[in-house]
Amino acid sequence: MRKPFICGNWKMYKTVAEAVAFVNAAKGLVAGAAGVEIGIGAPATALKALADAAKGTNIRVGGENCHWEKEGAFTGEISPGMLAEAGCSFVIIGHSERRQYFGETDGTVNKKIKAALANGLDVILCCGETLAEREAGKTSQVVDGHVKNGLAGLDAGQMAKIVIAYEPVWAIGTGRTAAPAQAQEVHAGIRKLLTDLFGREVAEGVRIQYGGSVKPENVKEIMSQPDVDGALVGGASLKPESFAQLVNYQG
Ligand code: 13P
Repeated sequence: MRKPFICGNWKMYKTVAEAVAFVNAAKGLVAGAAGVEIGIGAPATALKALADAAKGTNIRVGGENCHWEKEGAFTGEISPGMLAEAGCSFVIIGHSERRQYFGETDGTVNKKIKAALANGLDVILCCGETLAEREAGKTSQVVDGHVKNGLAGLDAGQMAKIVIAYEPVWAIGTGRTAAPAQAQEVHAGIRKLLTDLFGREVAEGVRIQYGGSVKPENVKEIMSQPDVDGALVGGASLKPESFAQLVNYQG
């Protein structure tokens, strides 16, 4: 049985003070969410304070990106070890905004994933097609490419630390959610690919989140799909009440 993983991705929102205030407001609201894993991906500046504020709660804290090297002359970058030391237990890698605006490629995604795992971090690997790619009938080709190339060289044992987030680019921040059946179709395709790559047992254990305009009003329907094992949420994760509603979608 896969444990659902509801995770916020704050993107470039929240100061240190705002992040700490969020956790202090949210922790009581999500404390009773049994059987659901809860996480927040946050800007680097807020991570340490956020992780300290979240200590002793059921909220995990993660980075939104990392470099693949341990240290070095890479101005502006942050290593996986630095994230871990700041209190992160996971990192989001390969988000479409990183691919679109910051030159992220499957090659850099793959290097980052390996470095993150080597530093004890779990990984949320993001994949997803643009509207043009969907309309050209290339959805599964694009998504499979992101997943296969991103995971190249990993062994079955490492897959226990990997979560996949399917985020159709056309559904991110647009208010346009993939229909639950559309999400399910792609998620099932990802699980089939994982089965081919790592075997059935491993593939059945990997959690596949959906991301793209998930809100309290639609989370339950999305989560009811058999291969949807969580959500990666941008806008609706920024307010404690809305975040708590997402996390408590079962009750
Ligand atoms: P929204 O929930 O704001 O559409 O963002 C989704 C996303 O990109 C999460 O990583």
